Amino acid sequence: MAILIGDTAPDFEADTTEGHIHFHDYIDGSWAVLFSHPKNFTPVCTTELGYTAKLKPEFDKRGVKVLGLSVDELKNHGGWSKDIEETQGTALNFPLIADEDRSIAVKYDMIHPNADNTLTVRSLFVIGPDKKVKLKIEYPASTGRNFDEVLRVIDSLQLTARHQVATPVNWKNGEDVIIVPAVTDDVARTKYPEGWTTLKPYLRIVPQPRT
Ligand code: BEZ
Repeated sequence: MAILIGDTAPDFEADTTEGHIHFHDYIDGSWAVLFSHPKNFTPVCTTELGYTAKLKPEFDKRGVKVLGLSVDELKNHGGWSKDIEETQGTALNFPLIADEDRSIAVKYDMIHPNADNTLTVRSLFVIGPDKKVKLKIEYPASTGRNFDEVLRVIDSLQLTARHQVATPVNWKNGEDVIIVPAVTDDVARTKYPEGWTTLKPYLRIVPQPRT
């Protein structure tokens, strides 16, 4: 059955480049990004993993643990990591799961038989500290994902979790946000004593909360 936003992220145990993990214990109250790529030693994947390694300080700042997943063997990951460092300028600095028996890929619907029967598509899940799926994206093998966009969505998700605000089209960190409809004007007056702009009763704009 497909995993949907709001579902609990399936638990699993796995061998990774940083040791054996039990996923739910590993999350341990943090946010997490779990993403699959089709295969080791392939060009698009090499660029994605190098860029994600470069972004590690940004994920750390947001309290997000990143995990890659490949259906290749653990012993292949080391050699590929050297290639990633050589060509992308940054070595792998987060765990890469070796899902040789594809059991995790199957649990997370990362294998799409009509695309390829054996390799994973480019799936990505953002998982909250409550272990619920907050974002799910899927790209074909030939298109590298935009990990700056992943950070942007995490910023939006974390603002929603902390402040009950939503983010408008093409929002970027620092720009105005939307007070969610579930917050009444009475409650909003306490949260935003400096006020907000009402464009419509359901469209109330406020500067991005800073904390
Ligand atoms: C890649 O990562 O470069 C790739 C993998 C499978 C098919 C096409 C591209």
